[in-house]
Amino acid sequence: MDDFVRSGNQAVSPEVYELENKALDPEGKLWAKLAALAPWQGKVLVDLGCGSGYWLEKYRDASQVYGIEPDPDLLPLAIMRGAGKVLRGSAEHIPLEDESIDVVHARFAYFFPMENNPCDKGLAEVARVLKPGGSLVVIANNLEQGEFAGLLTSLYGPSQQEDAEFARAWWQAQGASRYTVLSSWRFEHRKDFEAVIRLEFPQEGANAWLALHPNATGLTYAYDLYHWLKPVLPIGTASAPNRGVGD
Ligand SMILES: C[S@@+](CC[C@H](N)C(=O)[O-])C[C@H]1O[C@@H](n2cnc3c(N)ncnc32)[C@H](O)[C@@H]1O
Repeated sequence: MDDFVRSGNQAVSPEVYELENKALDPEGKLWAKLAALAPWQGKVLVDLGCGSGYWLEKYRDASQVYGIEPDPDLLPLAIMRGAGKVLRGSAEHIPLEDESIDVVHARFAYFFPMENNPCDKGLAEVARVLKPGGSLVVIANNLEQGEFAGLLTSLYGPSQQEDAEFARAWWQAQGASRYTVLSSWRFEHRKDFEAVIRLEFPQEGANAWLALHPNATGLTYAYDLYHWLKPVLPIGTASAPNRGVGD
């Protein structure tokens, strides 16, 4: 599979990324919003770009869960979880039948629409596998609220903001709805928090931020969720609804 971009965090250190996943959303706000937007109980769900498969067993209420992952190093880790059916594939090539899936989640995977990185191909492939009326929910970083957004914009520069604006406009053009969830990271041990900050950010900036926050074991963190609904009528039919539920 040559159409994937190796992740700069999970593929670099699956162990540290595991700590990050464990620390996410201790209040369960993100999870509650995902379940409210597109419930998966008794449904068929795809975790697209599932990485090492951390989230797969959390969909235990689904009738069937598929993890799709292109990275040959992460794929075996996801298979070893023993949750759901894990298949090699990518957003552009999903090895599943047409109209066989109720819900697709893409969590920090593939859907980073930018001027030089249109995500049309992946969205068309998701549309192919979704049943009419099925949902795609994309989980992305919010760049405006919370300490993590502050770190992103200060350490990676203003291009982050421009990318976020491009992504919002792109999703709006696809007829998706956007929701922001303000949540947090909470770690049990400072050393784990430090390791994750150093995985996610350039070393100099990460060290400077940690020195300024010597007792921190977490931070505030906001997500942008994009909810795209596959029209019940064929795409292109004049009366086909292409909008999700309103903001
Ligand atoms: C930051 S990791 C997130 C992994 C997982 N979703 C999680 O939250 O633990 C990004 C994932 O996207 C995957 N990825 C990269 N290119 C992709 C593509 N074209 N289609 C699907 N997944 C892709 C990477 O291999 C990696 O597993």
